[in-house]
Amino acid sequence: MGNVKTIFNHMVSFFVLAGLYAGFSPAYGQGGEEINPKELFEYHCSTCHGNDGKGTHRGHELKAPNFADTNWQASKKDEELVNSITNGKNKMPRWSEKLKPEEIHALAKYVRKLAPKKRS
Ligand code: HEC
Repeated sequence: MGNVKTIFNHMVSFFVLAGLYAGFSPAYGQGGEEINPKELFEYHCSTCHGNDGKGTHRGHELKAPNFADTNWQASKKDEELVNSITNGKNKMPRWSEKLKPEEIHALAKYVRKLAPKKRS
């Protein structure tokens, strides 16, 4: 019954390889670190934008928008947000030297989440 044993061995190596592959593929950033946009936002951005995105006193002085305003959200394209975070805009500092592009993308998505859900 040599054949059965060979097939069995093939099956074992298949599952071992599949397991290894699955172990390497979860949604981690390229450096192997998980991106946590909430943590990044609260660390880098909330001094001006506030944890809730509505803007702090300092942010308002600098004319930061209210991310919780659905009209503001609707007036902006995703690329605009990414571009402004990367390159800065007026009093908004640029982040291209401090944050990786993947982090900036994650933050742009996070900014979207700060708006209240539309009522249907
Ligand atoms: C020093 C204060 C300050 C900090 C810190 C700051 N911002 Fe801003 N941000 C501003 C101001 C002021 C504006 C308004 C810019 C304008 O439209 O004139 C702004 C605008 C924005 C916009 C809208 C851009 C657009 O296209 O209208 C986004 C998105 C944004 N900030 C994200 C972030 C993120 C993400 C961080 C953290 C990585 C951050 N900001 C940190 C001050 C700040």
